[in-house]
Amino acid sequence: MTKKEGGFLISEEDIKKRVKELADQISKDYEGKQPLLVGILKGAFIFLADLIRELSVDAEVDFLAVSSYGKATETSGEVKILKDLSESVEGRDVVIVEDIVDTGLTLRYLYDLLKTRKPASLRICALLDKKERRQVDVPVDYVGFEVPDLFLVGYGLDFAEKYRQLKYIRELTPEEVKNI
Ligand code: IMP
Repeated sequence: MTKKEGGFLISEEDIKKRVKELADQISKDYEGKQPLLVGILKGAFIFLADLIRELSVDAEVDFLAVSSYGKATETSGEVKILKDLSESVEGRDVVIVEDIVDTGLTLRYLYDLLKTRKPASLRICALLDKKERRQVDVPVDYVGFEVPDLFLVGYGLDFAEKYRQLKYIRELTPEEVKNI
């Protein structure tokens, strides 16, 4: 993770290495089990795709789509389910896979919601953690990188639906925010 002239950056290489480390940890923790990875759309789709391919345990996948910020860079605090899971999670070992934890409001809501559906276990894996922005407590079991309070894009993370395709993660400059 580096801070270069161009601003904050997590390189493709650093992401790859860390995703493999997370997958190794998850494979170890879920040995002999078949976890259900629940990806939070849209931001987590690239992370989830890379993570599952590094697992050595069999895993299943499902997705939840929740409302995002729209064009603003601040959360509204309201979480709306746009697409629910396709299957029941009752009795399953569920791992919520998220791109970034910011205020924690989204994950807190989703964690509590899935908990009511009686999974055998429930954990959270987030690629990025903006810890200093947290407003509510969330139990994040697997964290890729702790990141500073900057608006980040790339590797699935967007700003107004742009930049998701970048292979690295970088800071969005105030000029770029203005020009959207
Ligand atoms: P929270 O509810 O405030 O924790 O926000 C979580 C969601 O906000 C994430 O799933 C992202 O969709 C979005 N988000 C938070 N910070 C960023 C960022 O720096 N870049 C892109 N999206 C972000």
